[in-house]
Amino acid sequence: MDKIVVRGGAPLQGHVRVSGSKNAALPILVSSLLVGGETTFRNVPGLMDIHSILDLIAELGVKVNRSEDAITMDATTIACVEAPYDLVRKMRASILVLGPLVSRMGRAKVSMPGGCAIGDRPIDLHLKGLEAMGATIRLEQGYVEAEAKRLKGARIVFDTVSVGATENLMMAATLADGVTLLSNAAREPEIIALADVLNGMGARVEGAGTPEITITGVTKLSPVEARIIPDRIEAGTFMVAAAMTGGDVVVDACEPKHMEHTLNKLEQVGATLEVGVDSVRVIGPKTIKNVDIRTAPYPGFPTDMQAQFMAMLTLADGASVIHETIFENRFIHVSELKRMGANIVLKGNDVATVKGVKRLSGAQVMASDLRASASLILSGLVAEGETVVNRVYHLDRGYEHIETKLRGLGASIERVKG
Ligand code: UD1
Repeated sequence: MDKIVVRGGAPLQGHVRVSGSKNAALPILVSSLLVGGETTFRNVPGLMDIHSILDLIAELGVKVNRSEDAITMDATTIACVEAPYDLVRKMRASILVLGPLVSRMGRAKVSMPGGCAIGDRPIDLHLKGLEAMGATIRLEQGYVEAEAKRLKGARIVFDTVSVGATENLMMAATLADGVTLLSNAAREPEIIALADVLNGMGARVEGAGTPEITITGVTKLSPVEARIIPDRIEAGTFMVAAAMTGGDVVVDACEPKHMEHTLNKLEQVGATLEVGVDSVRVIGPKTIKNVDIRTAPYPGFPTDMQAQFMAMLTLADGASVIHETIFENRFIHVSELKRMGANIVLKGNDVATVKGVKRLSGAQVMASDLRASASLILSGLVAEGETVVNRVYHLDRGYEHIETKLRGLGASIERVKG
């Protein structure tokens, strides 16, 4: 298994370009299942999670064509409506095929995604929503089977804000009979991006980006071409890297409007920001100030940036309190950061107090999930000596060429093939 070796010390300098958003691309690629024709998407990042969803889409009989800058999918015929265990287990987002398949084909059978490192992550909201739209749901032998001749519009009030459930049901509702209202819907930029693509296909989705989304069903959707929005989490990760190394980095091809909370917290730790239309220059502070963080659904502080900020705050001048409110087990990076000399005290599963220390020291560490892996790389960039991050396949799920991009900014980082 590959490892990443980082030698700390160099302040990062220069320009880095952000890739397309993984979390926007996943549902958008899946939306091709709704169209009896060819869809094309550009700026799709070359990531493990993207390969996994394309393998799954191809397994359903869709013709998938991957070129360097575009993915084309022709779902004129869908030969099979079953998403098998072997493909689903690689990635939870595979559950997103459920809504579109039932909606277009009247039936779908999808392996239940298991738990994963960051908690139990149930799919009850996806299933309850489909049931409200008239689908019959059965859970058998590890599979969810959903059936409905034609889904019917319904009023669905989510108990919890869920990005995935909002996306799944929004897609399902596009071909349903009548009007669907999603209430307490997720408001992430990725939801707006998906709605834009669906509307480009001829769907009638209104209110995406607000807690109330209305979808008026149509009988058929048409081919579309679209570009995936920039990855706000990748962009934020580079910004934290710039700030914590005391560097001076311009993060290009990003969308600052999607990153208000992240930018705000970077200013609070003392970084100087120059925000452009599609770029942000980050100049790191001499001393990192302590800040408190509480994760929340968009437009709150993203849970996907929590681990990276924690890595930075290990070196702050004072104590910071971090509350994780979205996932139940999202502090798994804490024990690894402590092995590098961080002073972090956990209270329960959801509150961490990070007391700044003068320095971190390089160590062998183990990546446990995607964003946790990023936090270990960031810590390695400032630690004394060498840090070896093992099990980097988690990182490859979500960061395109991270070591090449960081090396371009002057970091001493390399991948050791294993
Ligand atoms: C998406 C993102 C992930 C991000 C997360 C929260 C993708 C591919 N992944 O994940 O990077 O960290 O949003 O911003 O876009 N829940 C239920 N029942 C459900 C569904 C969710 O209780 O049926 C709970 C989850 O356990 C969690 C919370 O709702 O506590 C939010 O999860 P959700 O927004 O659904 O996350 P994902 O869509 O899986």
